[in-house]
Amino acid sequence: VIAWLGCTAALQPPAERRLPEIEPALDVDPDPGRVEVHLEAIVTELSWGGGPATEAWAYRDAYGGSTSIPGPLLQVEEGDELEVHLHNALPMSSTLHLHGVALPNDMDGSEITQMVVRPGEDHHHTFVVTHPGTFWYHPHFEVADQMARGLYGPGLSRGDTDLHETADRTLVLVDALVDDEGLPVYDVEPELWRVGRQGDLVLINGAPAGEDLVLRATPRERWRIVNAAHSRYFGLSLEDHELRVVGGDAGPVRTPWSTQLLVVAPGDRYELIVQPEPGSRAVLWSLPVDRGFGVPPGEALPLLTVVGPDAQVSLPALPRSRAGMPRVPLSPSTATRVLSLAEGTAPDGEPLFSIDGVPWPFSNPVPVREGEVEVWEVHNCTEGHQPFHLHGLFFDVLDLDGLSPLHDSREDVADIPPGGMLRMAVPYEVPGQWMFHTHLLDLASHGMMAVIDVGDHAPAPSVPLTCAPGGQTAR
Ligand code: C2O
Ligand code: CU
Repeated sequence: VIAWLGCTAALQPPAERRLPEIEPALDVDPDPGRVEVHLEAIVTELSWGGGPATEAWAYRDAYGGSTSIPGPLLQVEEGDELEVHLHNALPMSSTLHLHGVALPNDMDGSEITQMVVRPGEDHHHTFVVTHPGTFWYHPHFEVADQMARGLYGPGLSRGDTDLHETADRTLVLVDALVDDEGLPVYDVEPELWRVGRQGDLVLINGAPAGEDLVLRATPRERWRIVNAAHSRYFGLSLEDHELRVVGGDAGPVRTPWSTQLLVVAPGDRYELIVQPEPGSRAVLWSLPVDRGFGVPPGEALPLLTVVGPDAQVSLPALPRSRAGMPRVPLSPSTATRVLSLAEGTAPDGEPLFSIDGVPWPFSNPVPVREGEVEVWEVHNCTEGHQPFHLHGLFFDVLDLDGLSPLHDSREDVADIPPGGMLRMAVPYEVPGQWMFHTHLLDLASHGMMAVIDVGDHAPAPSVPLTCAPGGQTAR
């Protein structure tokens, strides 16, 4: 009898976990052209990937009622007015930064564009969403710590209808640093944060990654990928499939492209089309990415299994070109600005990072003239990859070490390998003070951050620095 029971157990299909969907935040405004959501940053209890329940910080949808990590999905139609309220119920000040959606400077939510929101205080953002795309939100105060505790969430703006997708999903990828008992580690030692903290627990929409995590696909899937991890790069690869890249940080790419391996840097977003065959099963892998700093790239990691649809349907062909944000105009007189990202040591012996030789917050905003375009030549002097991020102004990537990119799209995050030089065309389209930094959050929090001040200014001359051994810069 015992043997027979064992046999039945073996014949049962393996237990399957469904990939969770992220609940949209409740829109409390009945006006179809306005979306009003109320988020509360709260202290809650949560188990990280099945470990013991422990304190975490999360966004709660104050009217919808749900609390989740990632936080609720901000969902709008292109052209809608979006109003996001933040109530800070944390024991620490915070802000809400909207990463990757065009907005006026005073809505950016960084610690330099507004007063921080103190415990018990409220703040709100209102602006019109002028383009389709995938964005996200996170605090911009003590960001490395607050994001580790669980504060981040996705957003999307719909408006592009040329893909005829049968499902539109948001996949938020993160990793968590947990100890042997499965408890999260929020305080990390300098030797770990110096290279960007990375944890072994990978979560997709809050669920632990694994082959038993199942995404039941429709014939034409649109996936919005958000890498909300502190430092982990995901090397996405789907067995027997090509990934069709149709969107980048600023919405539609002008020229969609296909790839077997898509490396997604921290802070980065991609929109993909995946069309699984009926009856197929394919594992979505995260292949090892060597991000430098001596961090072991690790093993290939199964993220989830994609199960094909029951039947095929006939769908219009995918577009070969898309209406993305226009290319940034360049002319022979476009000026070049040289920037360098570097590492070093503070007087107290702790690691310290800098842009143009000055660690944040000791640098002054760099004045540039509104309406102009400049080419930024960003040198990565450090020994690891840097996901370079610029707030508020979407740029075109021109080339990386002289090679032109596959992306034909406006971006707000672009990866620069160690020793690499990225050239990008930056349009000074929106006035105000815009932060730029590495999206390795620990490194940004320890100095690798600066500000560009777009206005009616005479542009500051650019400081030509060269990379010196040990990741530093020299004049
Ligand atoms: Cu996600 Cu200052 O950025
Ligand atoms: Cu940002």
